[in-house]
Amino acid sequence: MSAMLDQLDAIESEARGALDGLADAEALEKWRLAWIGPKGRLKGLLGSMKDVAPADRPAVGKRMNEVKVALEGAFEQRKASLGSAKPQAAGPMLDVTEPALDHTIGRTHVLTRTIDELIEVFARMGFTVATGPEVEDEHHNFTALNIPPDHPARDPLDNFFIDGKHLLRTQTSTVQIRAMEQSKPPLRIVSCGRVYRPDEVDATHSFMFHQIEGLYVDRQVSMVDLKTTLLQFAHAYFGPEAEVKLVPSFFPFTEPSAEMHIKMNVRGQWRWVELGGCGMVDPNVFKAVGYDPEEWTGFAFGLGIERIAMRRYGIPDIRWLFENDLRFLTSV
Ligand code: DAH
Repeated sequence: MSAMLDQLDAIESEARGALDGLADAEALEKWRLAWIGPKGRLKGLLGSMKDVAPADRPAVGKRMNEVKVALEGAFEQRKASLGSAKPQAAGPMLDVTEPALDHTIGRTHVLTRTIDELIEVFARMGFTVATGPEVEDEHHNFTALNIPPDHPARDPLDNFFIDGKHLLRTQTSTVQIRAMEQSKPPLRIVSCGRVYRPDEVDATHSFMFHQIEGLYVDRQVSMVDLKTTLLQFAHAYFGPEAEVKLVPSFFPFTEPSAEMHIKMNVRGQWRWVELGGCGMVDPNVFKAVGYDPEEWTGFAFGLGIERIAMRRYGIPDIRWLFENDLRFLTSV
C-alpha cells in the first residue's frame, strides 16, 4: 500500500511544480488534461487499484481523492491568477522605446507681460511700485479721494459691496491714498492691479479689469509735467506714431482733470478709446492724508491695462484676455 501512497505523493508534488511554471491559458489546459483530466495521470492510477490489498483500498482511495481535490483547487487558483495577470502577460505596460511627448513651455500671460513692461517704462522715469488691497474700505475708495457720501459713484448698484463698509475696489486710486499715508512727500509711485465694477461685458468692457495708477507729488508740479509724462509714456510704449490726446474731464480727486484717449482698432474700426483719467491732485486729497496743500502739488493718472494691451498687441476684444483659449494665448 505504501508504494501506492508514495506514488500519489509524487504525483501531487510533480503536478504542483508543473503548475507553477505555466504562463498562459493554453498551457494551463494542457496541464489539466495531463494530470486531472479523464485520461490524466491521476485517473491512470485507478488501474493499479486492483494491485492494492482490499483492506488498504479505503485508505488509498481516500488519499487519491484528497490529491484530486487538492490539484483541482490548485488548478482553479492558478487559472484565476493567470486571468487577472493577463494584461501584464500581454507585454510590458511601459514602453520605454516610445518617443517622449512633446514638451511645451508655457509663457507669461499677455496682461502680466504688459504690466511688467509698463512698470519698466515708468521705472525709467523714476517711479517705484506701490500696492494695495483689492477689498477696500469706503475711506480709501471714496472718502479720502474727495468723493462725498451722496456721490453717485457710491451707489450700491455700481459697486460690488461685500458688507456695508467694504467693497471690491473700483479703482487703483485707492493706492494713492495708501502710499501717501505711508510715506512723506516727495513721492513718485505706480501701482498695477485689478479693479471691479458691475459693468455690462462687451468688446471693450469687463466687470473686472486692471489699472495702472500713477502719482507724482513734489513742489511746483504742473499740468505740463503730467502731459509730458503721459505723452512720453505713450510714445515710448506704443511707438512715436501712436495718436493720443488729453480731453478735459472731471474726477473728484483731481482739479483740473482730463481723460487720455488713444486711437485704436476695435473690431476692424479705428476709433478714439478712453485709456483712463488723469489730473492735478485735488488739495482735499492732500488734506485727507495730512499733506500740506500749500506746499505740495502733484499729478495722478489711472489707465486701463487691458485697453493698453489691446492697443499694443492688436487684440480686438477684451474678452479674449480672460477666456484662456490656448489659440489666443499662444498667438500673443
Ligand atoms: N480712478 C479713475 C477711474 O477709475 C481714473 C483716474 C482719473 C485716476 C484721474 C487718476 C486720476 O489717478 O487722477 O475712472
